[in-house]
Amino acid sequence: MNKNNYIIAIDGGAGVGKTSISKELAKRLNIIYIDTGAMYRAVALYFLINDIQITDENIQKYINNIDLDIKIENGNNIIILNNKDVTNSIRDENVSMAASLISKSKIVRDILVDKQRNIALNRSVVIEGRDTTTVVFPNADLKIYLTASLDVRAKRRHDDLAKLNKTSNITIENVKENMIKRDEQDTTRKESPLIVAEDAIKVDTSNNDVDKSVNIIISLLKQKVKDINV
Ligand code: DC
Repeated sequence: MNKNNYIIAIDGGAGVGKTSISKELAKRLNIIYIDTGAMYRAVALYFLINDIQITDENIQKYINNIDLDIKIENGNNIIILNNKDVTNSIRDENVSMAASLISKSKIVRDILVDKQRNIALNRSVVIEGRDTTTVVFPNADLKIYLTASLDVRAKRRHDDLAKLNKTSNITIENVKENMIKRDEQDTTRKESPLIVAEDAIKVDTSNNDVDKSVNIIISLLKQKVKDINV
């Protein structure tokens, strides 16, 4: 395949390395990176901040009050919720659980998938998140499904929280329990559950650092997109 614009979609559960790998991959390829999980997190944060229970009825009632803007700056996704930068606060562990809950909603999914497709219009992108290979871009040029052992995933996620000073009352065990719950929610929901796309290539990141996983993905990409310049 020879083309100017190409789409790399990266799926996988919590803590498999989606974000760090996607970001580094986009940097190496000099293309943009879209973090779809951040969008679900921002919608969930709206409900948490305003102390509104996440129910189908409330989603319908309040969805139009949510103005979500994604700015791409120096390879990072800056998430603006109703004119406020929430890039940091969406990473809290309580937001992770709420995002998993909100992501069951078809109304929310339809709006966010539309936004994601629009951002990717006429450009090359690395897009990561739990339905990017199956629903958002079923025709992506390269589909990767990342995996890692539960212990590695929980440690990585806990390390990420520690970097953001968000581990004062959360242990690796707590993170692991939340991960199991989220995996269960994300894989069994009715709307766009997390599944492995038929043509996705599985990459186990348990024993890889970010660079190693990125190198694997770039060599897979070179086999698919012939005139790629890396
Ligand atoms: O990747 P993440 O941990 O930031 O995602 C948070 C939650 O958002 C995740 O538990 C499920 C949901 N999500 C989704 O349903 N579809 C996506 N494309 C991305 C995230």
